[in-house]
Amino acid sequence: MVISTFYKMNQQLLKDTIAQLFAGNKGLLAMDESTGTCNKRFAAAGIPQSIEMRRKYRELIVSTPGLNESIGGAILFDETIRQQTSEGIPMAEALIKAGIIPGIKVDTGAKPMAGFPGEKITEGLDGLRERLAAYKLMGARFAKWRAVITIGAYIPTIASIKANVHALARYAALCQEAGIVPIVEPEVLMTGNHTMQQCYEVTEQVLKNLFNELYQFNIDLEGLILKPNMVIAGIESAHQNSIDEVATATVDCLRSSVPASVPVIAFLSGGQSPEDAVAHLNAINKNYRHHLPWMVSFSFARAIQQPALDSWKGQDANVEAAQKLLYARAKSNAAAMHGVYSAFSE
Ligand code: 13P
Repeated sequence: MVISTFYKMNQQLLKDTIAQLFAGNKGLLAMDESTGTCNKRFAAAGIPQSIEMRRKYRELIVSTPGLNESIGGAILFDETIRQQTSEGIPMAEALIKAGIIPGIKVDTGAKPMAGFPGEKITEGLDGLRERLAAYKLMGARFAKWRAVITIGAYIPTIASIKANVHALARYAALCQEAGIVPIVEPEVLMTGNHTMQQCYEVTEQVLKNLFNELYQFNIDLEGLILKPNMVIAGIESAHQNSIDEVATATVDCLRSSVPASVPVIAFLSGGQSPEDAVAHLNAINKNYRHHLPWMVSFSFARAIQQPALDSWKGQDANVEAAQKLLYARAKSNAAAMHGVYSAFSE
């Protein structure tokens, strides 16, 4: 394969960033909810939806004592990377001081795909080269782009899969050109009543298309992080599989579609409860860790943040209690990377 000069130049930098992110078997914390998503979660928890409350909440996260024991990198949203802590320290700098590498979500959201009812295409390629350069100056060393694939009647279509993996490949190329590690996230949603087998088939199809596209776009597979969904039945499905069944289906699916040269798989939690997400990650590592070519980690948002958000309720008096919950969930997930997590020790 012909590798473009800029990939070669950045190859070591990308590898080093990935090694640092996951050194000591840590994972990532996604705290990059868009304003709309963050407001939705605040509304559900009875928290006022203002720019200042979002800033306070993000400060609560980045100032959690000891978070770097289990979190190597945190993904910020555009609004947050431009905000400061109450002491006037930029959020990215506060993370670096806490021993956590800052990352940035660079897609501008999944929009309805014209001509394909029920399907979405993620936007954000226009001006991305310039935005990556600006984020790099603000301290970001890795980035995230999320594509969403919905399972339903006659969907996903091949057109939506192709459009989404094409955008992911062009995003990954721009990131690698900039020396920023791309997190490539093709999320097959849990929404719906599909079976685990349907999720398996769609996830496999999406990943095979994705890696074909990444290959065609000369992407350095050793210089990216894959952030997939676990293989799991839809939330509304009457039959939910056991923890071990999900672990086995997920591993089988990834083994059939993800090249061994990808260094790390960092799962999204996708709406699973914090308990289910950590139990699945634990079972994957406990049962298969020694037989997998990639490190298997996490890049959770809800499965780490939700208990802390619910306990904070927007009140200063609850910050310490919320931080303890955040710390504990991050710790449990790091333990699951070794396959030694136990619900009883939480
Ligand atoms: P969840 O873990 O809540 O799915 O979020 C991960 C994420 O970053 C989605 O893009």
